[in-house]
Amino acid sequence: MAGVAGKFVKSGLLRVQSNGIIQQSHLSTLRELSAGKKAGLVVVGSLIGGAAGLAYTLDQSVKASGLDLHAPHFPWSHNGIFSSLDHASIRRGYEVYKQVCSACHSMKYLAYRNLIDVSHTEDEAKEEAAAIQVTDGPNEEGLMFQRPGKLSDRFPSPYTNEEAARNANNGALPPDLTYITAARHGGEDYLFSLLTGYTDPPGGITLRDGLYYNPYFPGGAIGMAQALYNELIEYSDGTPATASQMAKDVAIFLKWAAEPEHDDRKKMALKALMLFSFLISVAYYWKRHKWSVVKTRKIVYKPKSE
Ligand code: HEC
Repeated sequence: MAGVAGKFVKSGLLRVQSNGIIQQSHLSTLRELSAGKKAGLVVVGSLIGGAAGLAYTLDQSVKASGLDLHAPHFPWSHNGIFSSLDHASIRRGYEVYKQVCSACHSMKYLAYRNLIDVSHTEDEAKEEAAAIQVTDGPNEEGLMFQRPGKLSDRFPSPYTNEEAARNANNGALPPDLTYITAARHGGEDYLFSLLTGYTDPPGGITLRDGLYYNPYFPGGAIGMAQALYNELIEYSDGTPATASQMAKDVAIFLKWAAEPEHDDRKKMALKALMLFSFLISVAYYWKRHKWSVVKTRKIVYKPKSE
């Protein structure tokens, strides 16, 4: 026992006072600093805090400037930390993309096989793929040929190159939509607001030919005309195809395209939380068990009685 106490004394954790009582030394280093150093620390701390505050306010004020409007947060059914995407909605969103958006926008990082067990069965996905024509080759004669699409084929692009895309859209380039919800502030909130937010330009603002007014688009003037109107398409599941319904569905479809791991990630989080909360209780018990010897120990100093 005395040996253990001696070790602690040497390491400076315990200090023997002149009256023979062993006292635990305070481990705080701040108390020993001189007044000048303390003042210095306060100044450095305030400077860092002030700079962070300034950066935050500047960031906020820049965002609030201009005529563009910020998308509100919508109560998506996948908002909860354990909520999956609405897969019926993904399927409808695919129909909207295929029948409306794909006229101008590519989704070249998505293949038909990606749809399997997400929005379509394997047979349905094969059917979707077979409906497109893909240039393949060269064959034995060295010629390129057309064949129906397969599951491994990517979604077809509406234009062969960027120049053709710009030429068909008054110079504006319709971006690839695969990762668009991850590539824009506000994600699916922004998308929904953009698609449903077309209005007449406010008084005093005249737009160039080929530009349309949308307060959610930075700058307000967008090269894409309003794409969604009530009853524009017919959903295969019979859902009334209002403009806002289509905007919601296509936003969820694009959210899935940008984050295909979304559902798995949340399922994994649920499993991890369950497992770790159990492991933490075991670890807590184990720690108490192992430390009980140390925690219940009493160190007594007995001066030699001569
Ligand atoms: C007639 C062609 C056309 C159709 C149809 C179309 N778009 Fe666009 N889209 C464009 C063009 C052109 C731009 C580029 C606009 C610009 O940069 O000013 C664009 C831009 C976008 C952007 C990017 C906006 C940004 O913040 O940069 C998104 C998102 C978008 N479109 C989504 C859609 C969706 C979803 C659909 C289907 C419901 C759709 N578009 C249908 C032509 C189209």
